[in-house]
Amino acid sequence: MRQQIRPLVAGNWKMNGLGPSLSEIALIAEGLSDHQHRLDALICPPATLLAAASAKTAGTALAIGAQDCSTETHGAYTGDVSAAMVVDSGGSAVIVGHSERRQGRGETSADVKRKAERAVEAGLQAIICIGETEQEMLDGRTEEVLLRQLQESVPAGSQAVAVVIAYEPVWAIGTGRTPSIDNIAKLHAFIRRSVIDLLGDEGRKLRLLYGGSVKADNAAEIAAIEDVNGALVGGASLKSGDFLGIIKAF
Ligand code: 13P
Repeated sequence: MRQQIRPLVAGNWKMNGLGPSLSEIALIAEGLSDHQHRLDALICPPATLLAAASAKTAGTALAIGAQDCSTETHGAYTGDVSAAMVVDSGGSAVIVGHSERRQGRGETSADVKRKAERAVEAGLQAIICIGETEQEMLDGRTEEVLLRQLQESVPAGSQAVAVVIAYEPVWAIGTGRTPSIDNIAKLHAFIRRSVIDLLGDEGRKLRLLYGGSVKADNAAEIAAIEDVNGALVGGASLKSGDFLGIIKAF
């Protein structure tokens, strides 16, 4: 039976967005009012827009989050943004371990776990990303890679209110390619079993998001999969109409 888990539809703006883009955030917040009774929605703009986006969405159901945070709490870490700074800017969540940071910036699962710990300590919801590369998928190693990333990135004793897992196959990000519905279902069921093994009963409640080329026109079939409890959306979160289409599907 499908679990009663409130979905989360999250948008990751990556390194996109300047002041004028705040109007898209306002439109998303406005459109969300028809759906906020049944799901949560989050936009993660670049760090430079966090405070302004939080001010813009004050009093609405749209949450604002960051795309990364430091492994450290404070101190001599030039360029880092701490979890407490995200909270201070009005954020309530942070993405950690996105593949663009794991692959592109050499972050290890140990780093990701430290970031998730800092986030949760500061009162943020940590969205921990996992996902296999195309080569790992072709080599038939997807489950092995996902299990290792979960074991090494998810803090012990994580609670479902504080931690969300996002499965994003690296080869599906920004490519317009997605795994088949059967494969997403199979891998989300695998991730569910794995988080139950890791966290016990709490693992049954954790939200598992799918990410990678989610668009308004494929969101409904992805949303219907058991153990998909939301989406992490890149490109299609930049335009309010596209993102609201995905929210509607969930
Ligand atoms: P796209 O939706 O553009 O494929 O990006 C997915 C992603 O990386 C979200 O974090």
